[in-house]
Amino acid sequence: MGLRRGMVLGALLAALAGIGLSGARDEFLIGWQGETYRPADVWRGEQAKTLGGRQIEQAPASEPWIETLSWRPRAFLYHSFMTDEECEHFIQLGAPQMKRSLVVSSSGDNGEVSDYRSSYGTFLNRMQDPILTRVERRLSEWTHLPMINQEDVQILRYGHGQNYKPHMDVLVVDDDDGRRQATVLVYLSDVEAGGETAFPNTRRHHWVDPGNVERMGKVSDCAAGHVAAKPKKGDALLFYSLKPNGAEDFMSEHTGCPVENGTKWTATIWIHETAFRADAFYPPPPDWAPQDPGACVDFDERCPALKDEGLCEADAINLKGDLVGDGALGVCRKTCGVCKDCAPDDRECYLKNRADSGYLNLDLQYLWPRPGSNRKA
Ligand SMILES: *[C@@H]1O[C@H](CO)[C@@H](O)[C@H](O)[C@H]1NC(C)=O
Repeated sequence: MGLRRGMVLGALLAALAGIGLSGARDEFLIGWQGETYRPADVWRGEQAKTLGGRQIEQAPASEPWIETLSWRPRAFLYHSFMTDEECEHFIQLGAPQMKRSLVVSSSGDNGEVSDYRSSYGTFLNRMQDPILTRVERRLSEWTHLPMINQEDVQILRYGHGQNYKPHMDVLVVDDDDGRRQATVLVYLSDVEAGGETAFPNTRRHHWVDPGNVERMGKVSDCAAGHVAAKPKKGDALLFYSLKPNGAEDFMSEHTGCPVENGTKWTATIWIHETAFRADAFYPPPPDWAPQDPGACVDFDERCPALKDEGLCEADAINLKGDLVGDGALGVCRKTCGVCKDCAPDDRECYLKNRADSGYLNLDLQYLWPRPGSNRKA
């Protein structure tokens, strides 16, 4: 009886819904007419912004469109996901903070330097500024996954010969924030040769459109014969590490092919199954700026006393800084003698401070004049 009544009620609701579906309300039903997401629509609400003296355009240079590359793994290419100005802005934010990239060790401990991954990298804070925020929001609209599930944006730089060998993005030891379910990799630069993102477990028949093999033109040996994406400034590759049923998809193993000519800059955003560090999901205060590794400062007034207690050596990681890792700058770099107090116009001194704290000094156009003021302790 109860079951029967439920069925009748269900049919009635379906009929009512059918009435509601017709006419003016169609636009609320994405997918009703076969479409799921129209990239051009997303740009409509975007406003041109000026940030740090730079104009950030509101529209991409070419019409954005989304291409399904493969279902095994689930991989999609969003052409013109970011504007050239947005790409340049991400690089400008990331370049002064670049350090040698680490891999998460098998024990799940802190990162370690490894030849497995020879790029340089850094993280930008979620919602660090309005441009980051609008890209993160655009990404959540595309993926239909909440912004709070996104990790901080990782910026990577690969020079000649640098690569990232085949790996999965689902970590062996994942934390309370759920596993990484999807990865979005935005190419922030064009690359003259090499640097493709390839899925080495795939073969030609995994392409949804095998015509892509010809369309891509020449690719490096590392990418040949596999589903792959060629770096193109502004394009975003989205792939899922988890299948719809939650199991790991080993077809999503991927590699950053060696850069054969040029420099490859990327922004990576991992999207978790659940909220990522929900307690830190807010923008930094308006006066926030990243620490400047070229500036020689202490962040704690107790530094002279700590030095007298021998802590510069005993607690070097915290006081001098994590010189090889991607940890924070030392709290007492000045007092512990890791850096020199440079004259404001002394570029060599400034760059030496950066290098002595493990930071990368390539791409000088982003480092000098000094990019920003130092955050107060
Ligand atoms: C690298 O690319 C640049 C620009 O396309 C080109 O001029 C140069 O010859 C290339 N170098 C090599 C080694 O292929």
